[in-house]
Amino acid sequence: MTRRAVIEGAGHYLPDRIVPNSEFEKTLDTTDEWIRTRSGIERRRFAAEGQTTSDLALRAARAALEQAGLVPEDIDGVIVATSTPDLTFPSVATMVQKDLGMTHGFGFDVQAVCAGFIYALTTANALILTGQANRLLVIGAETFSRIMDWTDRSTCVLFGDGAGALILGAQDGEGSNADRGILSSDLNSDGRYRDMLYVDGGVSSTGTAGKLRMQGNPLFRQAVEKLTSTAETALAKIGLSGPDVDWIVPHQANIRIIQGTAKKMGLPMDRVIVTVQDHGNTSAASIPLAMSVGVAEGRIKPGDLVLSEAIGGGLAWGAVVMRW
Ligand code: UT7
Repeated sequence: MTRRAVIEGAGHYLPDRIVPNSEFEKTLDTTDEWIRTRSGIERRRFAAEGQTTSDLALRAARAALEQAGLVPEDIDGVIVATSTPDLTFPSVATMVQKDLGMTHGFGFDVQAVCAGFIYALTTANALILTGQANRLLVIGAETFSRIMDWTDRSTCVLFGDGAGALILGAQDGEGSNADRGILSSDLNSDGRYRDMLYVDGGVSSTGTAGKLRMQGNPLFRQAVEKLTSTAETALAKIGLSGPDVDWIVPHQANIRIIQGTAKKMGLPMDRVIVTVQDHGNTSAASIPLAMSVGVAEGRIKPGDLVLSEAIGGGLAWGAVVMRW
């Protein structure tokens, strides 16, 4: 028997305020048509004033618990992937832990920008496989609207706010690819690319939160190549390849990156969960948001082979293969 970290529930939360592309036409030299054709984004959500990343994370966590039919007492720990925490410290995870009424277990944040949820899932899987925990809440939550330069049309039209959560629980499998749960993962980073996507402030440099800066076009070219390679590596580790996948749930940065990666892997777009049109790029929240939407719409079902991949600042990138 092989211990596996199995997905027991998924949930998400989106702030109420929907911002269509047309809203940017009022203040920037941009058009709905440019944003839609270059990125696939039609609208995004922005958190209300005073609504923080931990508020979004908490609501996603509650939704995942409800979907799983579990209560906070059933959870051993909380991992939050985020680059936009409420405060420099303590972690968003400990805030969620407290707001869920948990006085047991542990919580910590993972920061790998848009690849954060892949890193968090891989960490949670390791904690479960080594017996450190039996059941974990793994959340991706962001308020990227707080680090936008609203005068920079090349970035501020692309990002949004939101949160998604999965519950991973230990179950016994046979040790084969037929098992439910996380089957493999692949993590990468290369700090030489740091100028391609970064925030120009921080605690020990400027003492400010800073604003997001991105070289979109060079990053676009890196993204398709690196996402395809990490996805194929994660699949190859367990003797699988593109056609074995039922669903790709990619990081939702740009529809053209999503299409390019699916094409290179030989998968048609009707096997890809796409939410970028409604959410924009929500960084570490984008994958769990898309997973939760895919489940709620009845597309992702127990037993499906799901591949997730993401790339972001660092550069950091990676992929996870799981049987739902
Ligand atoms: O989540 C982390 C990972 N993120 C990504 O992977 C994002 C990767 N990059 C992208 O998604 C795309 O590169 C963008 C959507 C950011 C841009 O698309 P692009 O096809 O690479 O366009 P570009 O950067 O080459 O810009 C084309 C033109 C430029 O004008 P010139 O120099 O050709 O005259 C830009 O100034 O589009 C201009 N432009 C805009 N025009 C209207 C840039 N932003 C805008 C805008 N509205 N909002």
